[in-house]
Amino acid sequence: MVLSAADKTNVKGVFAKIGGQAEALGGEALARMFAAYPPTKTYFPHFDLSPGSAQVKAHGKKVASALVEAANNIDDIAGALSKLSDLHAQKLRVDPVNFKLLGHCFLVVVAIHHPSVLTPEVHASLDKFLCAVATVLTAKYR
Ligand code: HEM
Repeated sequence: MVLSAADKTNVKGVFAKIGGQAEALGGEALARMFAAYPPTKTYFPHFDLSPGSAQVKAHGKKVASALVEAANNIDDIAGALSKLSDLHAQKLRVDPVNFKLLGHCFLVVVAIHHPSVLTPEVHASLDKFLCAVATVLTAKYR
């Protein structure tokens, strides 16, 4: 997934605009994924997945921080997320299809909370970025 210079600017702009809210959006995106696509819950049998769960919120913060890290290192997402790539592909073995679901949910929560940010162009750039992150996190399956 090749991000153009305009895509990179758009993605950085999204994270700049959502700022400190990113962590809450991460939790909301996860909660939405579990509700809209229940099979995704099978990866989290050890979590409390009930609505408002503190564990889901805490995990959402981690996911959002990883996305911010990737956006801050947008020219080297593979390097920035190398350890997470090992974790997801080699240990967790999350089916790659699930990344599209979480990416979609993240886009939806950005659209809900920041409708003016998500112009069609920015939507396309953010989608490409989330696909690039997913590609990195699913690159090391053996
Ligand atoms: C763990 C990020 C997609 C399942 C993690 C962690 C981060 C992360 C930062 C914590 C790692 C640590 O504690 O060291 C991401 C990002 C994703 C993504 C940025 C895509 C945008 C997914 C998807 C699934 C998944 C789609 C499955 C549906 C898990 C599981 C853990 C985990 C099961 C371990 C949770 C635990 O036991 O604490 N992920 N993840 N991830 N992720 Fe992901």
